[in-house]
Amino acid sequence: MTLWSGRFSSPMDETLWNLSESYSFDHVLYEHDIRGSSAHVTGLAAVGLLSDEESSTLLSTLEQIRSEFESGSFVRAPGDEDVHMAIERRATELAGDVGAKLHTGRSRNDQVATTLRLFTRDALSEIARAGLFLVEILLEIGEKNEDAYLPGYTHLQRAQPVLLSHHLNAHAFALLRDVDRLLDTRDRLNVSPLGAGALAGTSLALDPTIAADLLGFDATFANSMDAVSDRDFVAETLFDVALMGVHLSRIGEELVLWTSAEFNFASLGDDFTTGSSMLPQKKNSDVAELARAKSGRLVGNLTGLLVVLKGLPLSYNRDLQEDKEPLFDSVRQVLLVLRALSGAFRSMTFNDDVAKSAADDQFLVAIDLAEELVAEGVPFRQAHEKVGKLVAKAVAQKRPLRDVVAATPTYQRFDHLFDEGEALVRRRSPGASGPGPRRDQAQRLRQSADEARQRL
Ligand code: ARG
Repeated sequence: MTLWSGRFSSPMDETLWNLSESYSFDHVLYEHDIRGSSAHVTGLAAVGLLSDEESSTLLSTLEQIRSEFESGSFVRAPGDEDVHMAIERRATELAGDVGAKLHTGRSRNDQVATTLRLFTRDALSEIARAGLFLVEILLEIGEKNEDAYLPGYTHLQRAQPVLLSHHLNAHAFALLRDVDRLLDTRDRLNVSPLGAGALAGTSLALDPTIAADLLGFDATFANSMDAVSDRDFVAETLFDVALMGVHLSRIGEELVLWTSAEFNFASLGDDFTTGSSMLPQKKNSDVAELARAKSGRLVGNLTGLLVVLKGLPLSYNRDLQEDKEPLFDSVRQVLLVLRALSGAFRSMTFNDDVAKSAADDQFLVAIDLAEELVAEGVPFRQAHEKVGKLVAKAVAQKRPLRDVVAATPTYQRFDHLFDEGEALVRRRSPGASGPGPRRDQAQRLRQSADEARQRL
């Protein structure tokens, strides 16, 4: 028997039950639902819809139910459709008629919207915190390997040398934007739908601001139909997480490349790598591959929800129940990736020498040759052409570019550009990849991270 079976003469068919029950996945919302219900009880008491005695009975009943969930002793009854019904059913079991007053002036529609906002608000904070932790680790690695540099790539072809810190900071800046977005979403989400009822409010003298304040919401809904049908906060969260997942997939891909024998720029600790069931020599960067792969389902979860929402008439529709699994999945998966990647980076050894010698590839000096000519007044396009000819000669004759330059009298004065690390040091414009602008960049990164931490 469900709590709403009054007007029905036959029980629900099992196939419909299996389709529509959501307890199997929404039981994880118990804590947020109890928080919402407790605030609702206080709101009812404040306007005289519950006596003080009734309200304290209900509040302690809800606390008891919370501890039943926490200790694992809560038992789902056969009619418990979802976590909300299960809690109300149990409250009525424990407190009798007083329990039966819990749902006064409330519908599951405003209840579930409230519960889900509370859950999402906590989840956004947790993801932001885990994101900031990874940023911190990227920063640390850059600082610890202060002098390390590697080739920077475009089109995955060696382009110009970059400090390791510069490379990692590029990812850190993207992650900081993700964190910012999560916190923006959290700000926008912070409106209480409780009091909207099924869709049109109530005739009872409820004051929605009381529960809203208790729950730490910044405001209450202005329109009851919007309040029960709005899932923008879920869609935004899924987008934020999907984009963060895309960023993490790019980091993952680079770790896969860096730890391959072909690059050999880095290796991960044994505790962050896996072996092969057949090939004894294998040490695989599965952590990075999974970071790369998880973005697929994160994007899928966003797409899935947007399609559920598309074309829904106002106001609540059962379709909205389909918001939960993608949300839970995305939250869980992105946290798994953030935490495992943080550990993997911590375990990483950067192979300085290998990366350095790749970055000291003589062709990476080509732009510096051209820019020296520019400094002497040659128009850039002509300088580019001239150096291009030298490169072509080196390639055709299979000779190092430095030799070709040394053998060309008009270029001999540029020989020093080929000195180890020289091309890196010359990347000195604001925000560039060399040691010059490093401090300014680190300061900006730290400042953004501090600001995000304060918002948390
Ligand atoms: N489990 C449902 C959900 O997640 C609860 C809302 C059901 N509301 C209703 N009017 N049938 O959306």
